[in-house]
Amino acid sequence: MYLTKEEERTLRGEDGETLRKMIEILVALGDIYGADALLPIKSAQVSGVSYKTIGDAGIEWISDLKGTVKVPSVLNPAGMDMNNWERLGIDPKFAAKQIEIIQAFGSLGIDSKCTCTPYYLSGFDVQYKDHLSWGESSAISFSNSVLGARTNREGGPSALAAALIGKTPDYGYHKSENRKPNYEIIADFETSGSDYGALGYVAGKAVGSKIPLFKLKSVPTKDEMKMLGAAMAASGAVALYHIAGVTPEVTDKEFSYEKPSESIVIERKDIDAVYESANDSGTANDIVTIGCPHCSKEELERLSSLLEGKTVVKEFWIFTSREVAEQNKKTIDRIENSGAKVVCDTCMVVSPAANSYKCMMVNSGKAYAYVPSMCGLKATYGTMEKCVKDATGDI
Ligand code: F3S
Repeated sequence: MYLTKEEERTLRGEDGETLRKMIEILVALGDIYGADALLPIKSAQVSGVSYKTIGDAGIEWISDLKGTVKVPSVLNPAGMDMNNWERLGIDPKFAAKQIEIIQAFGSLGIDSKCTCTPYYLSGFDVQYKDHLSWGESSAISFSNSVLGARTNREGGPSALAAALIGKTPDYGYHKSENRKPNYEIIADFETSGSDYGALGYVAGKAVGSKIPLFKLKSVPTKDEMKMLGAAMAASGAVALYHIAGVTPEVTDKEFSYEKPSESIVIERKDIDAVYESANDSGTANDIVTIGCPHCSKEELERLSSLLEGKTVVKEFWIFTSREVAEQNKKTIDRIENSGAKVVCDTCMVVSPAANSYKCMMVNSGKAYAYVPSMCGLKATYGTMEKCVKDATGDI
């Protein structure tokens, strides 16, 4: 891989041990995947933040690093709400470790707003064809597919290395020729709301890590595309998808592609089967969660209107980023008047908070895929309206 004189100096360790280790990670990845150079990035999102997922070995690795990130960089969700961790019953020992992790990242200049929706944050705006190094699978999918930016599926160390160097190896989804659809999915029925999470859950299982081109009857909103991509990244490994006539690349005349040779048809009954899983679990939902990925302003407003005048009868947790919560305080107050809890910096999957419950109702295909394996609970799937009805006993 070609390196500039400055990059070679960093690789020799002349800019310090941390930067030497970081550029070594990037060069190793570039060599494996055939990159010819390092490419400047606009921002980084570093995953591997929750103490639940990285443990003591992770803390030790991060704490050894010294330096300052070269581009705006933000964290994936942590294992708890950093301002109010007692509220969901987090163990103080876990909290102490989590605080240590966030402080270690903070000493490297990384923004401590822990979220899987960095594209909602000020300072992290994403434009068409921007190069990024993001690490959370739903954020990767959204930035690649809905915003038309370019990022590979980064792991925690490679996104952190890119943040500290300000560059990433130029391979994979950074190159136009690797972004063409190679699998067609036809879903010729009306879809709305959480149908997209269920569609993504079914589609991800079929396509694995391919690049699907959807032919849909309905035109999804950005929030619906967020749910579609998150689910496909969890039940499969989809980092980029296109929707005919909707997403930016396939509507760009300069982006040429052939009709994919592989194709499947997903039918309404396949989506209904995901909802119907609610009936075969046999365990009553004892907790309901929304906000995977983290809620947008519009999703919070919708929840607030669904909860108006109602009181929850079981735990109902709603996850969003701290910045979105701070910008929508009145909406949050209205939601919390019902007894529901709006929680920042974390989520139902990466926090240990839900581990003592038995069955969680979600409106997210990604949470539906991960809650059983990551939290040890059963999961049932419903629309946002159904989740509110279940949480308020209005069924
Ligand atoms: Fe975000 Fe957690 Fe879901 S990181 S995408 S809310 S599993």
